[in-house]
Amino acid sequence: MSDIHSERILILDFGSQYTQLIARRVREAKVYCEIFPFNAGLDKVKAFRPKGLILSGGPSSVYDSGAPLIDKAHIELGIPVLGICYGMQLLTHIEGGMVAKSTKREYGRAELSIHENEGLFAGVGEGGKAVVWMSHGDRIEKMPDGFSAIAHTDNSPTAAMADEKRKFFGVQFHPEVAHTPQGVQILRNFVYGICGCKPTWNMASFVEFSVGEIRKAVGSRQAVCGLSGGVDSSVAAVLVHKAIGKQLTCIFVNNGVLRKDEAEKVQETFKDMGLNLKYVDASAKFLDRLKGVEDPEKKRKIIGNTFIEVFEQEAHHVGGAEFLVQGTLYPDVIESVSFKGPSAIIKSHHNVGGLPEKMKLKLVEPLRELFKDEVRAIGREMKMHGDIIDRQPFPGPGLAIRILGEVTGPRLRILREADAIVIEEIKKAGLYRDIWQSFAVLLPIKTVGVMGDERTYENVVAIRAVTSQDGMTADWARIPYELLGVMSNRIINEVKGVNRVVFDISSKPPSTIEWE
Ligand code: XMP
Repeated sequence: MSDIHSERILILDFGSQYTQLIARRVREAKVYCEIFPFNAGLDKVKAFRPKGLILSGGPSSVYDSGAPLIDKAHIELGIPVLGICYGMQLLTHIEGGMVAKSTKREYGRAELSIHENEGLFAGVGEGGKAVVWMSHGDRIEKMPDGFSAIAHTDNSPTAAMADEKRKFFGVQFHPEVAHTPQGVQILRNFVYGICGCKPTWNMASFVEFSVGEIRKAVGSRQAVCGLSGGVDSSVAAVLVHKAIGKQLTCIFVNNGVLRKDEAEKVQETFKDMGLNLKYVDASAKFLDRLKGVEDPEKKRKIIGNTFIEVFEQEAHHVGGAEFLVQGTLYPDVIESVSFKGPSAIIKSHHNVGGLPEKMKLKLVEPLRELFKDEVRAIGREMKMHGDIIDRQPFPGPGLAIRILGEVTGPRLRILREADAIVIEEIKKAGLYRDIWQSFAVLLPIKTVGVMGDERTYENVVAIRAVTSQDGMTADWARIPYELLGVMSNRIINEVKGVNRVVFDISSKPPSTIEWE
């Protein structure tokens, strides 16, 4: 086994919204880490062979009935432990200290006074002071034996504590969030200095490792991959192709709700890269089934089910395929093991949901340990074209959830043209990579306008552009008025059937990114 996985940190998740951020910070330090739910068995924890353990924050109090608890054996593995917020309280609770239940939360910025600039705090804090982000109710009333305070704030006499002998640490604040500017340094001190990890996690070694693993798993058998043209499935396909070459057949289904010229572009790109690509134009079938359907969830279901049907049929023609390649990413994996279960489903998000169970294929998911930015880095490592790697996300149900109401041919034509203008202008302005998603939406209303001397009664297009880290929350992008002006002029002048353009200035939450 290559050594990319030998230097590793385990993060136990107690339900904090920031747990993934901890993992990202550790990975950014080129040290491999994974998140396990707090109730992962001791055997599983030991089998992971971590060099250090991080206990995440979480919304509970250690005294709550049903609070996520672990026992002593989990932390007494002979490796360093860092407890963050709830993790620190839990460490205190387990080791025989006292946690005080408090009704008042300490929330927001705080000034941390660091007692010694060493160990966890080596190189942190000017004049012994550092800004940190607090978000906790309970506090440490009495530290367990062997611990001493290594930092305090006005409100928390024990804002950080350490048992240097056993290398157990606790911090009341959140080093993983951007509001703790030197938090990255603190986590790196833990990972490098205290756990002794070396920065071995990099994209070249991942590709090499992964290619070997895929070869071992697939052998001389056949695999299929549903290619959407998006970043995840594209990188997964290229990686698997690198491993097994022509034993991989990619199936690209045109579902009739793709963007302008997309079907042609995807085919060109992947054929150029030497992939075995099967193009299936099933647009008539999809559009026929979408006739008269207005409900967004119904549209999603129809598109999802029809995709499975078409894909299954095509895959059968690929002689004896036993494997299905999917671009599943780490955030999907973590969500599915979370002890609280998947977060409430607001929209049914599934690209190819149901495929593996129905088709009895074994899954190949080479990206299931990676975050999105790592997937992009892998793509770059494999010399994939920037057009694919830097692509903004595009939903599986495509333009169908951007045409409010019924999806029809004429409406698709209008939306495709308007959307192409939005993307073209965003790219021209150099904003495409900074914006998470930018697109056009066709509204189901008509408004009055005037063109020349004529009164018009035509469609309205909304421009949606958001910034985001992961699509979970998003803010509307502050794109310049001039650019909005150019897009609006072009859409109204060039797209027949549109006489008004509006800009969506809603954030998520409470709105969503897509309109349906
Ligand atoms: P919302 O609209 O929920 O979207 O804020 C969050 C992210 O998910 C994408 N999205 C989907 N992706 N199938 C998908 O594959 C879907 O049904 C779907 N709905 C939304 C959306 O584009 C954004 O990136």
